[in-house]
Amino acid sequence: MKEGNLRYLSGFGNEYATEAVPGTLPVGQNAPQRPPRGLYTEQISGTPFTAPRAENRRTWLYRIRPSAMQPPFRRIENGLVRTAPIQDGPPPPNRLRWNPLPFPEEPADFIDGLVTMGGNGDASARSGVAIHIYRATQPMERIFCDADGELLIVPQIGRLRIATELGELEAGPREVAVIPRGVKFRVALPDGRARGYVCENYGALFRLPELGPIGANGLANPRDFRTPMAAFEDRGEPVEVVVKFEGNLWAVELDHSPLDVVAWHGNYAPYVYDVAKFNTIGTVSFDHPDPSIFTVLTSPSEVPGSANCDFVIFPPRWLVAEHTFRPPWFHRNYMNEFMGLVHGIYDAKAEGFAPGGASLHNCMAAHGPDRATFDKAVAAELKPQKVENTLAFMFETRFVLRPTRFALETDALQRDYDACWAGFQKLFKEK
Ligand SMILES: [Fe+2]
Repeated sequence: MKEGNLRYLSGFGNEYATEAVPGTLPVGQNAPQRPPRGLYTEQISGTPFTAPRAENRRTWLYRIRPSAMQPPFRRIENGLVRTAPIQDGPPPPNRLRWNPLPFPEEPADFIDGLVTMGGNGDASARSGVAIHIYRATQPMERIFCDADGELLIVPQIGRLRIATELGELEAGPREVAVIPRGVKFRVALPDGRARGYVCENYGALFRLPELGPIGANGLANPRDFRTPMAAFEDRGEPVEVVVKFEGNLWAVELDHSPLDVVAWHGNYAPYVYDVAKFNTIGTVSFDHPDPSIFTVLTSPSEVPGSANCDFVIFPPRWLVAEHTFRPPWFHRNYMNEFMGLVHGIYDAKAEGFAPGGASLHNCMAAHGPDRATFDKAVAAELKPQKVENTLAFMFETRFVLRPTRFALETDALQRDYDACWAGFQKLFKEK
């Protein structure tokens, strides 16, 4: 599959085999005594060796130099990056909403501009997530690698051109990209600057949700996921590699590019997905299915049905429910919801939730339509209606998301958010 000048393999979690130079992928074995063309063999495993076969992820890399050839890392500043457990004071039970974060005034690459909004669980315990926002104004010259989790990246402004050890991919607004734990990458900015959201998943790897009674097709279909084909750099110039490990950033200088994998095979690899390809399913009678019907990817926990994190989208779709209040109703949930808006208007809020902004409704926080949306929805004439030009999404997670100090203190926090639910009049008539 070709997209622009990038070449991709289609499918989700398949056993891929790809070589940038013909004849460099060993045939019939993983670790030959002398790999073709003088390459070094290296395995990267994304799950324990003995993980059940359906969940087991590993990839064999054939590279110009082994990753092991490096001096020791040294600590560098963490900037605004934080890692769970986040202990920035008692998390408030309040509903929280933020305006879009401005771009940094100083030139900032993908790492510089990364700011953590909240997190839950414990990165060391391989449980929970952190939610970050990136704001980049210059391409990375260095390389990044996250040992604490996989990165689900949701671009909101600008495309990201991501060169990884396993090949190059591009993701822009309305697409999402996933970089596996431990895979090195560098982000360039074809549009000059970029902003978006990142879910750093410490837990089980994101996968497609079960489909149950929906059947064999629907929601995100496996063939629409794209994994880059092998591509490599043979560069002997110095480069800095930054690693996030147990919540801290560390750096090391290499004398060559580590993006030097000439061929690889395996099922542990980055991927990109165009959410316009999501087969959205909803009611054709009345009432709403729960928003789990919009799940693109899920990171399950050890408790069935209680996700470490679900990535859920609210894409363009037809609303046809009869005699139904069509926006999401008022609700208080067990799960914890961090929402973002890529573009357009979210149908449960009249204003205040801007593209690039975010909201957090933690466990049992009462929320739902604001007053303006309520008034409109109860008065609406219920014809089939298409919700268009919008893409909101949610990272929904089983543990309370603890906001960072930055998130609670930034000027972007809307301190009057509660007011959007003020002034609901008493409509009850006993007789
Ligand atoms: Fe909600």
